[in-house]
Amino acid sequence: MNLPPKHNETVLAYHERTKHHIERYARGPAHINWNAKPDSYRRYTGAKCFELPLVADTLTSAYVNLYRPKAITQQPITLNKVAALLELSLGLSAWKQYENERWALRCNPSSGNLHPTEGYVVLPKMLNIPAGVYHYLSEEHVLEHRGILGASGVKHIGSLLSNNSFLIGLSSIPWREMWKYGERSFRYCQHDIGHAIAAIRYAAATLGWQVLLLEDWADTDILVTLGLDQEEDFHTSEREIPEVMLCISATEEGQHIVGSEITDALINITWKGIPNILDTNHHYEWPLVETVINATYKPLTEKRDWIAPPLPPLLPLACNRRAINVIRQRRSAQLFDAVTHITTKAFYRLLDSTLPRPGAAPWDVFRHRPLLHLILFVHRVTGLSPGVYILLRCDGVEEEFQIALQREHFNWIKQTGCPKHFQLYQLVSGDAKTVAQQISCHQEIAADSAFSLGMLSEFHIGLQYGPWAYRQFFWEAGMIGQVLYLEAEALGLRGTGIGCYFDDVVHNLLGLISTRYQSIYHFSVGTPPQDKHLQTLPPYAHLKREKKQ
Ligand SMILES: Cc1cc2nc3c(=O)[nH]c(=O)nc-3n(C[C@H](O)[C@H](O)[C@H](O)COP(=O)(O)O)c2cc1C
Repeated sequence: MNLPPKHNETVLAYHERTKHHIERYARGPAHINWNAKPDSYRRYTGAKCFELPLVADTLTSAYVNLYRPKAITQQPITLNKVAALLELSLGLSAWKQYENERWALRCNPSSGNLHPTEGYVVLPKMLNIPAGVYHYLSEEHVLEHRGILGASGVKHIGSLLSNNSFLIGLSSIPWREMWKYGERSFRYCQHDIGHAIAAIRYAAATLGWQVLLLEDWADTDILVTLGLDQEEDFHTSEREIPEVMLCISATEEGQHIVGSEITDALINITWKGIPNILDTNHHYEWPLVETVINATYKPLTEKRDWIAPPLPPLLPLACNRRAINVIRQRRSAQLFDAVTHITTKAFYRLLDSTLPRPGAAPWDVFRHRPLLHLILFVHRVTGLSPGVYILLRCDGVEEEFQIALQREHFNWIKQTGCPKHFQLYQLVSGDAKTVAQQISCHQEIAADSAFSLGMLSEFHIGLQYGPWAYRQFFWEAGMIGQVLYLEAEALGLRGTGIGCYFDDVVHNLLGLISTRYQSIYHFSVGTPPQDKHLQTLPPYAHLKREKKQ
């Protein structure tokens, strides 16, 4: 298979160069000054702030219903409900305290808790807030009025979005990750976007809303819509790059909106507020990240309309908790107990939730077939032999994988005790704990968990769309991660994303001899020991704002 030349070569070179190797990690700073961590919050000084009510607590939707199309009554789109969506997706979920140290956690996780992702909303006129472009400042749960529309813009946006929809745009500030992770940081920014997309999809589902990723948009349209093209406002080393535009709608099906129509409506917009400087130091420079950002810039493309083939209903989950409690309780386990087994029922439910179903959250945001498949390192699942397994997330790829994964001792035993629609194969039987830990940069969580996994991408197939599709592998991976995080919580377990792994050790283990398939992200799920030292504090107590009903 031939890849289109030009920018794809840059992407392949970036991917190759940012691999971690056992003997050498990808290039990053030699020394980290923790006191110089960039500010995790973007603020637009001088922009008018609209305080959002803290209303997520009033949402009663059951977690299990988030996956069931139409099970949750569709709420009208109002400022209060938009506030709830933001609170449950990009908002704070808790504060953690250890002795004198305190740090905030958010509903969306982030590599190193550095949070490169910024969220914006484009709203039509609503009660208590004018139409415009707003930046969401999660620490204070406010919307900063960044883009002010004239009368014709208000009318135009109103007609495009009507009363039934609004847009959420996501951007990344790579410096926040680059500061710590150097050249590999671009990958982590993209994983975080995937987590944020899924977090938004779940939060929208609590309100009965649809979410569609506007995949055809050019990055320039996102840039212009969010005011990120106002270059003179931004510190040159703290570039904020456009990532995705999502349309949130209170309609039967997701609503599509054309990018150029929105940019036309915003033509006479006035931008307010000066973005804060996040870091005054910038001791290191990582020009490779700039190169890959430029190479993966997305042009206008055609809409993709893949619909997931029908599957039996999602396996049952014995969880009667409210969705908001599961969402806000999502955390990364720092340790697993290395003892507790999980049931096959729980294991299969976790795997089943990573399979797209027609019209069902969260996978309905994407309209293309899955390109990531799961290599599972099973350690502690009662009734399932420990070993290495593969779960193919769609039909029609089995033969190619059997040819590509060239290891004589792989037995490719199709699992029969699992749900019939699973394409789950055992590759090797045996203790996989040591190897799982070794490939995960020696992190114990990969071995002490019930299972850990790698997400193997159909790398060349995806890149046929263009170099920009490189980012989408990480989005799909981040989404799988977010699904597993929430499902783990709902099952009384815990998950942790693993961005640090030795890429080619994974590939060698699988007998892969080309870059056709590449591991994109790893994850672990298990039972954490009780941590009595860490104190958990409520997310917005620091605001002393009244909780509204
Ligand atoms: C893309 C990504 C990669 C991560 N990689 C690791 C990792 O290699 N090891 C680890 O212990 N935690 C890892 N984490 C977990 C983060 O450290 C964690 O999300 C962050 O500290 C915020 O904490 P929270 O998830 O509890 O909100 C990763 C998270 C993400 C989103």
